Amino acid sequence: MKQILFVCLGNICRSPSAEAVFNALIEKNGLDNEISCDSAGTAAYHAGEPADYRMRQFAKKRGYHLTSISRPVNPETDFDRFDYIVGMDTQNVRDLQRMARNENDRKKIYLMTDFASGLRYDSVPDPYYGGDAGFELVLDILEDTCAGLIRKLQS
Ligand code: 4NP
Repeated sequence: MKQILFVCLGNICRSPSAEAVFNALIEKNGLDNEISCDSAGTAAYHAGEPADYRMRQFAKKRGYHLTSISRPVNPETDFDRFDYIVGMDTQNVRDLQRMARNENDRKKIYLMTDFASGLRYDSVPDPYYGGDAGFELVLDILEDTCAGLIRKLQS
């Protein structure tokens, strides 16, 4: 079983969406027994909260249900449990590198856009303080990069 952890800052917009988009692909491809995922935040400000209402609405329009509850990354358990730990932007990746306990942990850290298949973006931009277009862009990039990650895991 390959385990993936998606990570953003608050774990209420981008990484819960990555989890939902990725889970939809796992189901569509019949990979439930081979791949699973979770999400977490580098900050704990929103711990215990459901995903942001705006993010949930935009995701729902595309058929994704965001059900996760925000939690912070726990370096003591997450680096052992997960095979890929995937940050949404370069700050998330830097924060994860700082949390890593050793070189083996550091080797598990990736940037979501490393798995791009069609779109050319160098991060999944934080939509929190912006308008509607930012939420749509998050979903566009995640649909592209989650498909790329699934292909990488199957190859
Ligand atoms: P996320 O978005 O990292 O994609 O969950 C954000 C959520 C909350 C905040 C920033 C970004 N915040 O500053 O509270």
